[in-house]
Amino acid sequence: MKLTILGGGGFRVPLVYGALLGDHAEGRVTHVVLHDLDAGRLSAVTRVLAEQAAGVPDAPEVSATTDLDEALTGADFVFSAIRVGGLEGRANDEKVALDEGVLGQETVGAGGIAYGLRTVPVAEDIARRVARVAPDAWVINFTNPAGLVTEAMSRHLGDRVIGICDSPVGLGRRIARVLGANPGEAWIDYVGLNHLGWVRGLRVNGRDELPRLLADPDLLGSFEEGKLFGTDWLQSLGAIPNEYLHYYYFNREAVRAYSQAEKTRGAFLRDQQAGFYDEMKRPDAAALTAWDRTRAEREATYMAEARETAGAGERDADDLSGGYEKVALALMRAIARDERTTLILNVRNRGTLSVLDTEAVIEVPCLVDAGGAHPVTVDPLPDHASGLVCSVKAVEREVLAAAESGSRSTAVKAFALHPLVDSVNVARRLVDGYTAVHPGLAYLK
Ligand code: G6P
Ligand code: MN
Repeated sequence: MKLTILGGGGFRVPLVYGALLGDHAEGRVTHVVLHDLDAGRLSAVTRVLAEQAAGVPDAPEVSATTDLDEALTGADFVFSAIRVGGLEGRANDEKVALDEGVLGQETVGAGGIAYGLRTVPVAEDIARRVARVAPDAWVINFTNPAGLVTEAMSRHLGDRVIGICDSPVGLGRRIARVLGANPGEAWIDYVGLNHLGWVRGLRVNGRDELPRLLADPDLLGSFEEGKLFGTDWLQSLGAIPNEYLHYYYFNREAVRAYSQAEKTRGAFLRDQQAGFYDEMKRPDAAALTAWDRTRAEREATYMAEARETAGAGERDADDLSGGYEKVALALMRAIARDERTTLILNVRNRGTLSVLDTEAVIEVPCLVDAGGAHPVTVDPLPDHASGLVCSVKAVEREVLAAAESGSRSTAVKAFALHPLVDSVNVARRLVDGYTAVHPGLAYLK
């Protein structure tokens, strides 16, 4: 089986390859093709993979190319993990927003819109290319903002594109752990959009254990989301929000912390990763050791500002590894081998959330089998959550419309309608600021 990874020179590719190395079953991936626009990054990552594979007899063969059609031809699965504009682009997304006093996070608020505006046209090109060159391939989208990008690609690939994120899995795992339940046996009632969802229940043997957690302040305060949101707020909500909702519920504090930080997340990662890729240019560098050191530092500093604002302290050791590669592998196995499983994925709504139309990509538990991912029926969201989901989906739709038409005023509308952008004037200046720094937005006229 052939797996093609777009953004194959990306830093997290060794996580995926590491997961593949642990799969020895029949029908496993035997050939990995890395595609990237940058040959230097491809050779750096290829070196890490070669060291990972040392001593593993059935390690998947790896090849690398900068030719997209060549990479896609014959692919059974395509992982799309690209970053249009690189980490310099991410740092600029943050900076332009912060200069206007609004949040520039890569997936939430103004930063997510800017990143979406330059990623959607590229993702749609890829989707068209897959539809032509590898029409039977399944596409697993990791590219952020993952919900929006998956929806853009679904316009060309229908349900053959599935978006993934590790944050709902991590959240479910933490809640199960704190309740003393086995995460593998728990049914997690979660729904929303990517980075905008809520756990409303966690059932073990048919019994909902979440009320027990919500009723116990000590237990609630003992894990990541309790520390991040505060026990009172979780009790008021009667649900546990995805950690990215911190940027909504504590927006003012998040913007302040981001503005005061020595470096934004994007700037930190840009410099950290530049160091890694530079080191890989030295022929004697220990590739896997250098990669692992860089990875550990990245994971330890994840959402550091948010945790600092909330006084949440260091991350728990158990929470360090997100595990998105595990979600990807589980999804691929379920489809390729028809091994039925349930995963929280980004798929088209169909009729799941009645407040959204059928084409809207949402994040929801899905039954997965050889026929793809099928969203399960869930209870409706409470009004406050529906309200947020509907406004953010409306913003995503404006981003898609702006990408299609190239209309600058539609881009302004996308920013202006976002609940975390508080003035149409700010939205206008954001479009000016972003188009000035991002060559990828030159299409907006
Ligand atoms: C979480 C999110 C991902 C994000 C990742 C890395 O796992 O769900 O969407 O890409 O964190 O975040 P970082 O700030 O390290 O790039
Ligand atoms: Mn994510």
